[in-house]
Amino acid sequence: MLQIIPENIFDSFQTIASELDADIQVLSEFSTILTLQNKSTEGEIRLLQIFSGVYAILFDLSVKEKITFTLKTTDSAVISCLYHRSGKVSHKSDFNIEYNKIEILQNIIIANNTEQNDHLIFEGDRLVQLNMIIMVEDLLVNTEDKEIDIFKSSIYKLFTELHQRQSYRYFGQIRAQVLEQLEFLIENRGTDTLSLMMNKAATLMLLARQFFFQEQFANNSDITIPLKRTEIEKIAALKEYIVAHLGHQITINKLIEISGLNSKKIRSGFRYLFNSTPQDYTTKLRIKKAVELLDTTDKNISEISYEIGFSNRSYFSSLFQKYIGMLPKQYRSSDKIKNSLYQLSYKSVAKPGITQADIDDILNSSYRNNGDRIVTGCLIYDFKEFFQILEGKKEDVLFIYQKIKEDSRHLDIKVLQQDLTEERYFTNFSMANLNAVGNTKIEQLLTIYKYHSNDINRTSKKNTSDFWVAIKKLLLTI
Ligand SMILES: Cc1cc2nc3c(=O)[nH]c(=O)nc-3n(C[C@H](O)[C@H](O)[C@H](O)COP(=O)(O)O)c2cc1C
Repeated sequence: MLQIIPENIFDSFQTIASELDADIQVLSEFSTILTLQNKSTEGEIRLLQIFSGVYAILFDLSVKEKITFTLKTTDSAVISCLYHRSGKVSHKSDFNIEYNKIEILQNIIIANNTEQNDHLIFEGDRLVQLNMIIMVEDLLVNTEDKEIDIFKSSIYKLFTELHQRQSYRYFGQIRAQVLEQLEFLIENRGTDTLSLMMNKAATLMLLARQFFFQEQFANNSDITIPLKRTEIEKIAALKEYIVAHLGHQITINKLIEISGLNSKKIRSGFRYLFNSTPQDYTTKLRIKKAVELLDTTDKNISEISYEIGFSNRSYFSSLFQKYIGMLPKQYRSSDKIKNSLYQLSYKSVAKPGITQADIDDILNSSYRNNGDRIVTGCLIYDFKEFFQILEGKKEDVLFIYQKIKEDSRHLDIKVLQQDLTEERYFTNFSMANLNAVGNTKIEQLLTIYKYHSNDINRTSKKNTSDFWVAIKKLLLTI
């Protein structure tokens, strides 16, 4: 049985690791990662201590066979906030016989001070992304942490209020403002002091927002859920539609047509879920996309403005300035972007009939050109496909990548990840020729990575960076 024991959470993770046959990586006293790579489960579970008595658990697992995690009750009162982002998960408490399906974007709050345990069932065959913030009253009481004095008194208030009822369970929707902080926690993988501080800030913000809404909810004031659950799902689907069609004209009539909801419902749904009007929300997504394109491509500003659905470049520039505080041109030429480190990973298929002489030629150009521009990285070729990472100053990486893209010795080039980064993984340009090396561990890593990289939903920044970091470690031992 996989038991999460809030009072002893790090120890319970050691047990979970051995039961799931996971690799356990204790990064610091505040952070542990379980990595799973077995037949039934793949991915990771991260446990972070935010403050003493406040923990975040971040599940990112591809589950092929059903597994159940039990949230054990202990002597101390515990409040757990669950945020479900993808996959098939059900919930059941010892109270109920029935399992309740947890919907995507659902938020559950469990406040326990009874003997009842809660069970989370990860059904097979899906990528499960589920996050939890767990607060343990006794550990908060005992902490000397001055930093959290103010926070503590608000949390006590919550404990008192929620626990007036024997056990409290709230089922609602994850609000946009909470999701924002959650995404920050998920993306921030740093273990340095600054990253820990930012995690603390994000969690405080998350909880403040969570319980601010909760209070409004409990007092039944202005905020009542304006829509039925099926309607909320339609609004969430509209968001997906907008993200996929930023380059098209998105009118309220189009949204009405797609969702079948009337404009009043659409507006109140957007207000409820995203705290915006549909138009405002679309603009924000467009500007966010523009920032990403400015950061990660060398497309010019007219191209970008067109790509995200603005026919008028100067209108785009003025909106960009309004949201970001500078013009797109200024943003692109800012030193931050120009001088910071940049990584780009792609995969491609080797042209049929490629020879060893071709590979030697590629390597020679790489050593010469990459050396001149201080572009480091790694190229993996397994006689079928290439996997490459390039890292260096953004303009240098894009310059080299432009040449590679035009090379006829490979086809089907697919960028897996491109982003600003803080450190290089490789100190020089190296090439791992897998079959020649015959290193089964690299072959295993490559097999898993190929599996991820064939599915756009799985090719995350995390998978890619984990893969290259693991390759780097292995190369050092060869
Ligand atoms: C899979 C693959 C990876 C490559 N990687 C690099 C590289 O990292 N650096 C590089 O300069 N050229 C690389 N090339 C070769 C370039 O496409 C191009 O032939 C080369 O940069 C031309 O160099 P030159 O202009 O100095 O003759 C690669 C080609 C392929 C097919």
